[in-house]
Amino acid sequence: MLSRDDIIEELGIGPVWRLRQTTPAAPTDTPQPTPHAPFTTWDQLADAVSHCTRCKLHTTRTQGVLGVGDRNADWLFIGEAPGADEDRLGEPFVGQAGKLLDAMLAAIDLVRGNNVYIANVLKSRPPGNRNPEPDEVAACRPYLLTQIELIQPKLIVALGRFAAQSLLETDEAIGRLRGRVHRFQNVPLVVTYHPAYLLRNLPDKARAWEDLCLARRTMQSLATP
Ligand code: URA
Repeated sequence: MLSRDDIIEELGIGPVWRLRQTTPAAPTDTPQPTPHAPFTTWDQLADAVSHCTRCKLHTTRTQGVLGVGDRNADWLFIGEAPGADEDRLGEPFVGQAGKLLDAMLAAIDLVRGNNVYIANVLKSRPPGNRNPEPDEVAACRPYLLTQIELIQPKLIVALGRFAAQSLLETDEAIGRLRGRVHRFQNVPLVVTYHPAYLLRNLPDKARAWEDLCLARRTMQSLATP
């Protein structure tokens, strides 16, 4: 079990910062389509994802990766797509980026699987970890919408440019999307950097820490209106 100081060191965000109790920014309303998820149970959803042939990725993936965690979670973290490790093991964020994501969670007193659910925009791995293509995102969207309807999270954290842009249906840069509270299907959504990006861009870990603090403050404000 990592101590708080170990986590802070792992995140590379020393000196140790303390969470402040401040009022979060007011959510900015981004119009979103009405949900129309075609599945009504987790079993239906899991079965559909594991047998999915809605896009070409089914020809190259090992398995569909639905998501992992607490199906009644308040927190929903959404990444881009499974990588090689996730494709092999069937769970999101299990490689190096996953280790950093776990440290990011721990920095705000969260643990994978405990009031936290982790999913990706795409449920199948793009070959060679190439960027997801628009038809693949569209084909996978009903799965993500169903997950959100089933989980009913209080807050979504979009991990990285791709998740943020595709959820918010914008091409605005991540630097402009972070730092404020958006909405997806009427659920507050905070944007932060992707853990894989942070592994290569250490200075932005401090910004990610700010984003996590914003997410935490937003959640606290929801719990105590
Ligand atoms: N990157 C992602 O976006 N998702 C994963 O599950 C792993 C790496």
